[in-house]
Amino acid sequence: MKVCRRAHFNSAHRLFRPDWSDEKNNAIFGKCNNPNFHGHNYQLEVWIEGEIDPETGFVIDLKILKDIIKDEIIERFDHRNLNIDCPEFKALNPTAENIAVVSYNLLRSKIDKKYDISLKLWETENNIVEYSGK
Ligand code: NI
Repeated sequence: MKVCRRAHFNSAHRLFRPDWSDEKNNAIFGKCNNPNFHGHNYQLEVWIEGEIDPETGFVIDLKILKDIIKDEIIERFDHRNLNIDCPEFKALNPTAENIAVVSYNLLRSKIDKKYDISLKLWETENNIVEYSGK
C-alpha cells in the first residue's frame, strides 16, 4: 500500500557551474543561468509504501509525515535562495534532480526503515522528477 503527502515551497535558484565559462553555462543552462536568480513554485509529493497497521488502519500517520516534511524540507527551502541560503547546494547545482535527492536523504533519515520512500518534485507544471533512492 502506498500513501502520499503533498507539500509546496517557493525557492529561488540559479543553475551554473563556477568551473565552466559563461558561454558554456549559457549554452547548457540557458535562462536558468540568470545571474540574478529566478524562482519556482515547487510541488512535492512524498509517497510512503508499507503495510497497513492493523491497529490504526494507517500505513503511516499522515500528520506525522506532514510534520517531518515541514521540519526537514519546507523550513529549510521555502522562501530561500537555494544557492545562497542553503548549505546543501553550496557545491551542488540546485536542479530539480538534486533537490529531490537532497530532500529524499533528509526524509530517509527521519522515516522508519520499514517504509519505502519515493518522492516526486514538480519544478514547473510540466517538469517533474522522481527519486526513490535511485
Ligand atoms: Ni529554474
